[in-house]
Amino acid sequence: MEQEEQSIRGEIKKLVERLHDVKFKNKEFKPGIDKLNYAGRVFDEHEMAAAVDSLLDFTLTFGQHGLKFEREFAAAVKSKFAVVTNSGSSANLLAVTALRSKRMPNSLKAGDKVITPALTFPTTLAPILQNNLKPVFIDADIGTYNVNEEALKEAISSDIKAMIIPHTLGNPNNMDLLMDLKEDHNLILIEDTCDALGGTFDNKNLGTFGDLGTVSLYPAHHMTIGEGGVVLAQDGMTVKILKSLREWGRDCWCLPGNSDTCGKRFGWKLGELPECYDHKYIYTEIGYNLKVLDLQAAIGLEQLKKLPDFISKRRSNFAEIYRHLTQYEDKLILPTWHKKANPSWFVFPITVKQDAGFARSQLTSFLESRNIETRLIFAGNILKQPAYMDIDKEVRGSLKNSDIVMHDSFFVGVYPGIDKQRLDFMLKTFDDFFTSIRN
Ligand SMILES: Cc1ncc(COP(=O)(O)O)c(C=O)c1O
Repeated sequence: MEQEEQSIRGEIKKLVERLHDVKFKNKEFKPGIDKLNYAGRVFDEHEMAAAVDSLLDFTLTFGQHGLKFEREFAAAVKSKFAVVTNSGSSANLLAVTALRSKRMPNSLKAGDKVITPALTFPTTLAPILQNNLKPVFIDADIGTYNVNEEALKEAISSDIKAMIIPHTLGNPNNMDLLMDLKEDHNLILIEDTCDALGGTFDNKNLGTFGDLGTVSLYPAHHMTIGEGGVVLAQDGMTVKILKSLREWGRDCWCLPGNSDTCGKRFGWKLGELPECYDHKYIYTEIGYNLKVLDLQAAIGLEQLKKLPDFISKRRSNFAEIYRHLTQYEDKLILPTWHKKANPSWFVFPITVKQDAGFARSQLTSFLESRNIETRLIFAGNILKQPAYMDIDKEVRGSLKNSDIVMHDSFFVGVYPGIDKQRLDFMLKTFDDFFTSIRN
């Protein structure tokens, strides 16, 4: 780097750090007046400086930061490979579409049946439909909010080819059961780990058990690159297919702006193409363009350094809320998890008991009236949603728990932006609510 460029960058970096301090540091929280978000981006001057530095290169498109981020992300979650993409939804789309690739051994065919819970996020389900597969819905569990284990076991039959299972709100599924079913019935497994980054089951990272795992890097999640996601994969051929699908379906793997990375750009003979056809324009998949900017990856590299602290803060906030709310267990169903699970919580889910004497909306309105954000558990029973009411599907067993969750469950935040002052205010507000309904 030339000396003049280096010195200008140095000045800009100092200004960015100053701006960060002025704009974001030590902001006072006014309880009840300021919003107590359930989630949000947590960053400091390092992310801002990395983003600006990358912007000043003006690479814009996916490049060296992107490759480094994929390597470091894979290492962080003990996955063999990580393929970064522009959202968790895109990660799910890439994962399911890869399973439909002709090049995938044991690939899924149109109409193949895929088990998935009815209590879900829309873009966990949507790629099943977008890939002309048939969803087979099963019920969820109240407390874990994951698939109901009995319903899952009963739903498996010889016509089921795959399971697409979310670790809902960060809570690990019983991976002993899922892996046994996978093995015994030769099933493909995608773990939607969008809410569960860093969680483990029996000390193994979620997202690395199944054939593919997906992660969201949207600001609400455990770390962020803005809009972003990752597919975790364990073999090289799957990665080749995923990257091709991410990049128009091309066979070529050059970084943007590069040529002849393979060393035989005009030496390929694929399909019915003429000899010497430019590898840059040879398509072995029917793809999309779901890449990220290098600037986003630069932010991600800084966020990765903070990820262990982010996760431990989420766990400690969760534990504090849990401890405090046990006194209301006659009215509220608190979350439960498997004894081999070490969840990396996305949020703190609560179900209001049917005989609690108040409705969910009374509690959430009380919290919201004090500017404490609440959310519902995603789509609820997604088959009640306008877009999904008439889809081609099967339902195995009843969906009564999914309906109960849709009516009676919600969540509050545990993210690292919730410090002691905010947490105390949240817990006091729960106390005030229970005092108010007693009077
Ligand atoms: C379980 C689950 N899957 C997929 C997604 C989609 O991720 P994104 O918002 O990055 O598209 C989300 C988003 O919150 C999610 O909770």
